[in-house]
Amino acid sequence: MDKFSAPTWLAPRSVWNSNSTRWTCFIALSIISLALIWNISSPALSPPDDGASADYDKTVLTYIPPLGLGTWQLPKDKAPGIVQRALENGYRHIDAALVYGNEKEVGQGISAAKLPRSSFWVTSKLWNDAHKPAAVRPALETTLHDLGLEYLDLYLMHWPVSFKPGTGSKIVLDNVPILETWWEMESLVRDGLVRQIGVSNFNQAQVEQLLRHARIRPTVHEFETHPFLQQQEFVDWNLEQGLRVIAYSPLGNMNPIYQSSATPLLDDPFLSEMANKKGITVAQLVLAWNMHRGVIVIPKSDHGERVLENFQAQSIVLTEEEVQAISSNDRKTRFSNPTDMWGTGTTLYAGLDGVDW
Ligand SMILES: NC(=O)c1ccc[n+]([C@@H]2O[C@H](COP(=O)([O-])OP(=O)(O)OC[C@H]3O[C@@H](n4cnc5c(N)ncnc54)[C@H](OP(=O)(O)O)[C@@H]3O)[C@@H](O)[C@H]2O)c1
Repeated sequence: MDKFSAPTWLAPRSVWNSNSTRWTCFIALSIISLALIWNISSPALSPPDDGASADYDKTVLTYIPPLGLGTWQLPKDKAPGIVQRALENGYRHIDAALVYGNEKEVGQGISAAKLPRSSFWVTSKLWNDAHKPAAVRPALETTLHDLGLEYLDLYLMHWPVSFKPGTGSKIVLDNVPILETWWEMESLVRDGLVRQIGVSNFNQAQVEQLLRHARIRPTVHEFETHPFLQQQEFVDWNLEQGLRVIAYSPLGNMNPIYQSSATPLLDDPFLSEMANKKGITVAQLVLAWNMHRGVIVIPKSDHGERVLENFQAQSIVLTEEEVQAISSNDRKTRFSNPTDMWGTGTTLYAGLDGVDW
């Protein structure tokens, strides 16, 4: 038997002696070796064996209305009316979340507006205590039920932080890896319950980790950004990765919950002067500035007239000089930062503006 010979019980000797058979064996062995090497270099965590393949590149970005209505702290008694009025006056984007505690009332407003479902965009978010894969789908089902919708346009992982389930208002950190939660969120897209999935409050390393191992790519990143916390480099980086950016708290520290001692963004003398000259409000100016740089905004108000005022920011055109003037006044001041409250250490916002780490 020469070195290429094989036992005759496998195949007749004439078959093993042919050149084409030797080449076939050589190629097959090479493929098996490559597969073994690939397996060794794969991440410690591997995706669930759910038959899903990497359809990463197939996710198509669709149009996201550039100005939506924020609903955090929208009181339950006002939410139905505010949401309905917003939709009736042109809003086509609602930003909700299970943890805001008002999705039922927001849903009542959506339903009362009687718009065709395909004509408006709804985002909601997976709360931190439902990061365990088994908890992801039930959390989404609660949100869909409360909002009265059959699907969401966008479902976000609210924070890259997991809490132990069932610990109520007492915050107890858990250690569910982001990828495990993400892979379960992917199944919601496959089952048609959500159109797109994305993230919120991630740092760059956390987004990179997802981009490396996601089978369905995140299409959106929602985080705090406004003229006092511009994060231009981070905004650009997200856009380069193909993630649309949604700015939360686009009116800066106007939200009383932040209890900030800084001058509220809407009272800033520099911005007020520019807005006065243009005959617009500061709220409209800063919303227009964010949209000018390709960032989607979701201001919240429970005053009907402000909801309409904010919406009109879409028709404001800024000159390059105005944009430059606002851009050169970044204060790198972050208002939303639960690091101390949650005890997350320095992982939240690592490497980003507005933190010391
Ligand atoms: N993904 C996340 O982790 C996250 C975090 C925070 C927020 N969000 C989302 O982003 C949305 C917006 O953020 P936000 O609520 O923190 O802050 P915001 O929209 O920047 O500011 C809201 C505050 O501004 C006031 N306001 C609104 N329009 C105004 C106007 N034209 N003139 C003067 N004051 C005005 C509101 O008061 P009134 O209501 O009294 O009018 C409210 O106090 C939230 O509702 C939520 O949907 C997401």
